[in-house]
Amino acid sequence: MRSQAAIVALTLVSSVTAFWRMPCRSQTGKARIDPILDYGEISAHVHTIHGGGGFGFDATYDTLTAEDSCTSCEVTQDHSAYWTPTLHFLYTNGIAVMVDQVGGMLAYYLYYLTNVTAFQEGFQMVAGNPLLRNFSGPFPDTDLSSWPTDPTDQFFLQQRALGFNCLNYAIDPEASLYRHEFPTKDYMDANCLDGLRLELAFPSCGNGSATSTDGKSHVAYPSLVKEGNCPEGFDTHLPFMFFETIWNTYAFAGDDGQFVLSMGDPTGTGYHGDFMMGWESKEFLQSALDTCTSETGEISDCDLFTIQDDSVGAQCTFPVPDVLADDNVEGPRSGLPVAVPIQYGPDNATTYAVAGRSGVATSSVSVSSAPSTWSDRATLSYSAANPSVTSTALGGIVVNVAASSAGQKYGVDSSSTQSTSSSSITAAPLIESAAASPDPVTTSYITQGNEVIEMAIVEVEVTVTATPTAGAKHRRHLAKHQHHAVRR
Ligand SMILES: *[C@@H]1O[C@H](CO)[C@@H](O)[C@H](O)[C@H]1NC(C)=O
Ligand SMILES: *[C@@H]1O[C@H](CO)[C@@H](O)[C@H](O)[C@H]1NC(C)=O
Ligand SMILES: *[C@@H]1O[C@H](CO)[C@@H](O)[C@H](O)[C@H]1NC(C)=O
Ligand SMILES: *[C@@H]1O[C@H](CO)[C@@H](O)[C@H](O)[C@H]1NC(C)=O
Repeated sequence: MRSQAAIVALTLVSSVTAFWRMPCRSQTGKARIDPILDYGEISAHVHTIHGGGGFGFDATYDTLTAEDSCTSCEVTQDHSAYWTPTLHFLYTNGIAVMVDQVGGMLAYYLYYLTNVTAFQEGFQMVAGNPLLRNFSGPFPDTDLSSWPTDPTDQFFLQQRALGFNCLNYAIDPEASLYRHEFPTKDYMDANCLDGLRLELAFPSCGNGSATSTDGKSHVAYPSLVKEGNCPEGFDTHLPFMFFETIWNTYAFAGDDGQFVLSMGDPTGTGYHGDFMMGWESKEFLQSALDTCTSETGEISDCDLFTIQDDSVGAQCTFPVPDVLADDNVEGPRSGLPVAVPIQYGPDNATTYAVAGRSGVATSSVSVSSAPSTWSDRATLSYSAANPSVTSTALGGIVVNVAASSAGQKYGVDSSSTQSTSSSSITAAPLIESAAASPDPVTTSYITQGNEVIEMAIVEVEVTVTATPTAGAKHRRHLAKHQHHAVRR
């Protein structure tokens, strides 16, 4: 039985020493392009792309950093490309409309591992697997202390590197990486009044290579997704990269249909993303990692960065190749752009003929109907993250801040995070609240099924970072504004 105490999520505190979040407030484009996995040809599905304007079918480090190239991100030294699939609403009559993306993308650079080494020039990587259609783990995640300490099961970690955060700015935010698949449409209609935030954590253990044929094998997740032990042979500690995009799903509240990622995924489990390093040099990025250690995460706190106005960044777009000119990615249109079949799972999706590639005809696909079990899917219910350790203004990842409006400071002792066992760490969403306790140095218990896990809460010295609510308000305004724009 749960007490009246608020339910909070606590996360490791002392292991993140610093981070920054790179705001890329506008897209350079939305198109069927993916120069990592589909170099030189039409990609199998649409992406929303941010960052360097030197983007296209043949993008490389050199095109991104070419002399006359631009960036849609706020730091002019960063021409990296950041992309993920787009989110669409598919009406029951088969008409698809792209959901409005609100506020661009935030790309976090967090330092969870020790001795974080800058991405090398030419570095690129992919996180997630577009073919997945089933989350096969326990629901919600078990306590981190019960996870394998040996990160050999990269499939397990990859599934937990995705998050779908149900946004309602009027209540305390959910923890990042809490849900690993879409909530149901009914749940979103009732609860996610400010939309859905798509979250993606990238692997941060590298084997020293800049890339690999699948964009993945040269990198690996540490044992706890964002920290922990790296697998053998993956000894380079990269920045922990985390993407956030927000989609105005609430604009479709009450409408019959479903949300689908551009690769025909109505489950969310195939969510993925790509990063292509485009910093002016590895050395510059290394100095930024070494010296931009403000706990606020604000890029303006780093003297090395030259910051450009978002209105300048908004002018940075890449030319859409002629062969994609008629894609009509935003819709309304018949089916997903272009001719992407919906695949419900739970088996892995299969690949399909890509419209527009040589020898493939462009035709609209019929919308396959959902399996009968589709509407019975379980959805995790709301669970507030601890607002005092969650940065809510410009994003939601739980970072190294703890506060204290009540004059109390809480943190979880993570002195042993690199060790093989630790009973004191968790990112599990369901935790009896420490904040409700009058005693800041306490022990609390996590209840999961029949298991009760003891967790020591210790007082730590932390810098309080008050995140302004202006960003959230602004975003909310945008969301409302776009609500009208979307209903045509
Ligand atoms: C899908 O996930 C469930 C657990 O959520 C698991 O029991 C089932 O075996 C999985 N199905 C497939 C086909 O992977
Ligand atoms: C890193 O992994 C990739 C893919 O397995 C491999 O091709 C490459 O040789 C590895 N690099 C090093 C330095 O071991
Ligand atoms: C830090 O990482 C670099 C690159 O991976 C490596 O060469 C160096 O030995 C590491 N230093 C320490 C102290 O681990
Ligand atoms: C789906 O593919 C992944 C690897 O890409 C594999 O590990 C997993 O077992 C597959 N699942 C099913 C149900 O075939």
